[in-house]
Amino acid sequence: MRRLGRYLEGRKLRVALMLLVATGNAAAQTGGWLLVRDAIDNGIRAGDKRHLTVVVAIYLAVAAAGWILQAALIRGLAGIGQRMVLGLRRDLFDHLTGLSLRYFSQQKAGWIIARLTSDVDAVSDVLSQGMPTLVSNVVLLPAAITALLIADWRLGLVVFAIVPPALVLTRWFQRVSHVALVETRNRIAAVTAQIAESVAGMAVVQAFNRERRFQAQFDELNQANLSQNAYTQKIMSVFFPSIELLGVVATVSVLYAGERLLAHHTLTIGTLITALYLLQLVFQPLQELSDVYGQLQSGAAAMVKIASILDEEPEVRDRDGAKPLVGIAGNLEVDRVVFAYGEEPVLHGLSLSVPAGGCLALVGESGGGKSTLARLVGRFYDPDEGAVRVDGHDLRGVRLRSYRRQLGVVLQDPFLFSGTIASNIRLGSEIPDERVRAAAEAVHARTSASPSRTRPTRRCRRRPRRWVSTASPLASQGDSTTRCARAAPASPPASDS
Ligand SMILES: Nc1ncnc2c1ncn2[C@@H]1O[C@H](COP(=O)(O)OP(=O)(O)OP(=O)(O)O)[C@@H](O)[C@H]1O
Ligand SMILES: [Mg+2]
Repeated sequence: MRRLGRYLEGRKLRVALMLLVATGNAAAQTGGWLLVRDAIDNGIRAGDKRHLTVVVAIYLAVAAAGWILQAALIRGLAGIGQRMVLGLRRDLFDHLTGLSLRYFSQQKAGWIIARLTSDVDAVSDVLSQGMPTLVSNVVLLPAAITALLIADWRLGLVVFAIVPPALVLTRWFQRVSHVALVETRNRIAAVTAQIAESVAGMAVVQAFNRERRFQAQFDELNQANLSQNAYTQKIMSVFFPSIELLGVVATVSVLYAGERLLAHHTLTIGTLITALYLLQLVFQPLQELSDVYGQLQSGAAAMVKIASILDEEPEVRDRDGAKPLVGIAGNLEVDRVVFAYGEEPVLHGLSLSVPAGGCLALVGESGGGKSTLARLVGRFYDPDEGAVRVDGHDLRGVRLRSYRRQLGVVLQDPFLFSGTIASNIRLGSEIPDERVRAAAEAVHARTSASPSRTRPTRRCRRRPRRWVSTASPLASQGDSTTRCARAAPASPPASDS
């Protein structure tokens, strides 16, 4: 929650203003009923039509002010909340793009997507819907109790007798709903993760006839999610009607106490009616606050998960005093490099050197560490021992961006972003048309990717035909040529393929 508070920076004045608006709104709502009392006792019962008209006019003005204040409160708080969500989502994505490859290879993609979707949504619900309810009711509850005591302190005391059981009930609800809602978040996250993984691996699922198996897994998670939600609803179905019942008990008590006080002429009928309506204003916030509390719990649980990503430090990053690497000549030296993804080293003291303009082909059995070496050269990982040097500079001592800017990487797995072939070659950089065209032609992508021959805005599918590409080079030509062309404008000193 403290982390969310950071997004309030620069909006504190607005929040203070909103609290003022909420106070005005609560005063208008409760004050309105005190005016009704006056209208009944001093207008209707006293037969004073003039007084009645004046009070009704004031009541209308107060109600109108309340209406405007409430609208301003909902809009203002929801606006603040949405801006906070915007900031959170942007920071989350920004942080993710800065994390190292090791994080993504260890963390399930679906898990990360669940954080960015359902968890951010839960926080968003709290901030845009929960916050107006929370703020207005937190102010309304004491205002309604105060107004009730002002109207008639004896009737107010009757209500206080109902408050302890209501508090016990609310405390119980808060405790069980907290546990239930955290579990609900976990289960919906599991469903999202399963969907994301299945979609990403659909070719494998279908190629190995695993549709039914995945469907069964999905059904199981979906069912678990359903039963958890049903349990949460059950808790709510106990709590909310119970609070309602306490409200009824309070109303009955006030009616009986009112009857006795009326008989002794120490209470007016206007006060009794007003007290009954103010009672509603006491119990309604109690219910709504408990409801929002559930949302808050959900949002807090989601925020803990989101924070676990935000707290993750990128493993490969610029050291203090890292120097920019300008104008690489291309001398590559791998010096007694030892590297392990986990416990077992993959590279055991590997040394090699490639002079500028040179070419290195790695041939070896699958899993031998060829891609790993390329990843170390691209500095997607740092070696555990030894060093990778480019033009004599240890890669750990150079600015990552300055190095990567001059690096062209052709990945083993083709990946195309949705968009055009040209946009896939550019990848968001300001590369002029001629260079994009030259890059496409350099990798013989004329028929499929040359912006001059074919429509430059030809659309790519989001995911390439991954597994088909190994079986049929023709089918994958568009994909693989485009990824090669992507590397061409950078004139790569090293590539992984
Ligand atoms: N992200 C990762 N996390 C953990 N282990 C990994 C990871 N990537 C590769 N490995 C392991 O490191 C070893 C070397 O893998 P690498 O991908 O470098 O082999 P390769 O020579 O490129 O194989 P191929 O010819 O199949 O592409 C393998 O045992 C592999 O299982
Ligand atoms: Mg490989």
